[in-house]
Amino acid sequence: MEKQDGRRLRSVVSYVKRGGRMTVGQQRAWDDHWPRLGRTVSELPEGPLDFTAWFGREAPVMLEIGSGMGETTSQLAAAAPELNYVAAEVYDPGLGQLMLRAEKLGVENLRLLHGDAVVLLTEHVEPDTLHGVRLFFPDPWPKKKHHKRRIVSPSFAALVASRLAPGGTFHMATDWENYAEQMLEVCSAEPALKNRYDGWAPRPEWRPVTKFEQRADVEGRVSHDLIFEKQ
Ligand SMILES: C[S@@+](CC[C@H](N)C(=O)[O-])C[C@H]1O[C@@H](n2cnc3c(N)ncnc32)[C@H](O)[C@@H]1O
Repeated sequence: MEKQDGRRLRSVVSYVKRGGRMTVGQQRAWDDHWPRLGRTVSELPEGPLDFTAWFGREAPVMLEIGSGMGETTSQLAAAAPELNYVAAEVYDPGLGQLMLRAEKLGVENLRLLHGDAVVLLTEHVEPDTLHGVRLFFPDPWPKKKHHKRRIVSPSFAALVASRLAPGGTFHMATDWENYAEQMLEVCSAEPALKNRYDGWAPRPEWRPVTKFEQRADVEGRVSHDLIFEKQ
């Protein structure tokens, strides 16, 4: 499929368009903060996004893909004021909730992008620039016929690697064993990435426990972290 300007539209994407309206609080946070903190991927001008200008300062850029309802994102941005922290998410109530949380925590170093992180990385992030990419509990697409929708694939690993600065990290976590194995296999096969550990990374204490990890624990599934570095 081609867009009018010739750029390709992907036919298989890693998300479903979820319904659901924003709560009153999320809508209020959106109205108050979106003009300053948020941008829509499909409305960005062509070419790389100038993060330094947007944040109003030069700092290492950390991109978190699929920030969901923002529990982890708000806490990790608050814990690292030295980073320019960017959250990309397709679900707008989740971004509203993230702005509510950020407001409560007084977070200043966070910007939000509404839309597909693959398009963002491909079209609006310059190669060799990101300090890190985080992908926590991506949609697992557990049925075999849906595995093609999983965001981590060889082309995605190559895309992330190309956008990371040398030494930059790609940190993933999942509670689905065979997705963790897929992540390990795919990223180990990407020549520009090197596993920081021999297999799984130890679970970092600083990564907050979200409902996905809690539920996995209750259901007896083990969560795995994986940390790769751009070489
Ligand atoms: C299972 S949730 C996990 C949310 C959060 N990381 C957590 O740990 O609580 C995965 C999220 O990724 C988002 N997502 C999936 N594919 C995406 C994409 N290509 N770009 C941006 N967000 C995406 C979904 O909308 C969903 O909110």
